[in-house]
Amino acid sequence: MPVDYAALQTYLGDLVPPRHPELVAMEAYAAEHEFPILGPASCQFCYILTRLTGARSVFELGSGYGYSTAWFARGVDENGGGLVHHTVWDQELSDMAKKHLTAMGYPEAGKGAKTEIAYTMAEAVGVLKATEGPFDIIFNDIDKEGYPDTIAVVHGKLKTGGLFITDNVVWSGRVTENTPEEATTKAIKAFTKTLCESSDWDCAIVPIRDGLMVAVKK
Ligand SMILES: C[S@@+](CC[C@H](N)C(=O)[O-])C[C@H]1O[C@@H](n2cnc3c(N)ncnc32)[C@H](O)[C@@H]1O
Repeated sequence: MPVDYAALQTYLGDLVPPRHPELVAMEAYAAEHEFPILGPASCQFCYILTRLTGARSVFELGSGYGYSTAWFARGVDENGGGLVHHTVWDQELSDMAKKHLTAMGYPEAGKGAKTEIAYTMAEAVGVLKATEGPFDIIFNDIDKEGYPDTIAVVHGKLKTGGLFITDNVVWSGRVTENTPEEATTKAIKAFTKTLCESSDWDCAIVPIRDGLMVAVKK
């Protein structure tokens, strides 16, 4: 039987337990403004990975207005607390994230709280290069042409056994094109092939929503 992919994703999303009102508001904003947040099913998976690995330091590359950040922060908080880095190159999005995450009980870094968020408004890979690691999890959701260049930087900043999680590796199925013309599709395919063929990483792809790559640093 051919699978109705959109219906399947709706089914998976509907199974995610009810969320904090702030997350519900962020989901409504994404729907209204067509902003590409991960959504509940992918974020529930990231939250579970955070809990399973006991992660307490997370670095996000390309954070938007903090929806995925909130799920990593929740996992970190339940692991005993720590720091989540939010990076985006748009001041308005950074400010929106601060408002939402503060309302959820995760203040800006430096407040002495159990779980805090470090905000940087700049190009994310450059920020990662300049930030002291190692991190337990690095999450990647930047512009897709930038994906291949993240690998070496992330490898240098992740602890051994740490997770490198990347969104959009299915790219609405366009990755199945043998000779794609779009620069974005080419970049995602090059990124995915490099990681999967590398002896530095153990990789698995989970086709929730637009596809999450989970790579464990060996
Ligand atoms: C797909 S959205 C992030 C959504 C977020 N992960 C979530 O689920 O809530 C990516 C965001 O990162 C920004 N961005 C893309 N590439 C970036 C880069 N290299 N450095 C900083 N921000 C970037 C985009 O402008 C956009 O606001």
